Amino acid sequence: ERIVLLGAPVEEGSGRRGCLMGPDAYRTAGIVEELEALGFDVEDRGNAVRAAALDAVSDIGRLKNLQLVAGWTRSLFAAARELARGPAFPIYLGGDHSLSLGTVAGHAAVADEKGRPLFVLWLDAHADFNTFETTESGNLHGTPLAFACGLPGFEPYLGRPLPAVLDPGNVCILGLRSVDPRERGLVRAAGVEAHDMRAIDEIGISRLLAPFLERVAAANGLLHVSLDVDFLDPAIAPAVGTTVPGGATFREAHLVMEMLHDSGLVSSLDLVELNPFLDDRGRTARLMVDLTASLFGRQVLDRPTRSF
Ligand code: ARG
Ligand code: MN
Ligand code: MN
Ligand code: MN
Repeated sequence: ERIVLLGAPVEEGSGRRGCLMGPDAYRTAGIVEELEALGFDVEDRGNAVRAAALDAVSDIGRLKNLQLVAGWTRSLFAAARELARGPAFPIYLGGDHSLSLGTVAGHAAVADEKGRPLFVLWLDAHADFNTFETTESGNLHGTPLAFACGLPGFEPYLGRPLPAVLDPGNVCILGLRSVDPRERGLVRAAGVEAHDMRAIDEIGISRLLAPFLERVAAANGLLHVSLDVDFLDPAIAPAVGTTVPGGATFREAHLVMEMLHDSGLVSSLDLVELNPFLDDRGRTARLMVDLTASLFGRQVLDRPTRSF
């Protein structure tokens, strides 16, 4: 089995510098070697290059770096569409979460070509469901899920309508603990399945995830997973610009990855928001690599010794 890694060193959607270094931090943390040790044939395609923004895209008021993010969206959309058509499993090494403006749209387009529904699991403290109109920060990493679900006002990103829109009923968000007031209304209105940390505490993360995976399986769906570093508790994953206390534990996060592996349903993965400039001796990068290894079949009961 083949895995393709594509770096997406986009940081302009996040409102601070540092995510640019994310792809190389994953490489330094040994992502290639870990996946190879699990028996995969890994091809690192290096980093994507930002496309020029369309002339038509102008920077609108409070939206930060719209033209640059629009350029990234166009290049990552094209790259994701090509990778989704191929036989290998793509992992996008971010980069802030605005990279998912491109990757999710690309995978939705190809799922549509294949006549299969795309499902998305969004592991994040945030819903990233703001539109140009509702964003309070102007940071475009707060918008990709709304864009993928076809909410209005995003045309400048691709210069044309999305070729395929993600059905909001096929989305599950896990880990929520920071949602803007208007964004919350949009999530509700769209009918997205969304679970906050209270639900995880009361019900347990596996009992929340299992029914969603059953739905994906029953629909013969393709599953794209978008893992934001801030899904994790900042005590174990400090290298992110948008830390929110009370996140997923080490074991909860590994359990999610192990269940995803066992489901056999996942077909593409974003690793986003790693800011190595904020890391503590690489521990967040290593944890994200270990979680990725769990998704690809490594079984762990505790933080593994890197002995293979
Ligand atoms: N909701 C906030 C905003 O729109 C935070 C978004 C954080 N997103 C992220 N991918 N870290 O700015
Ligand atoms: Mn996010
Ligand atoms: Mn987040
Ligand atoms: Mn296995």
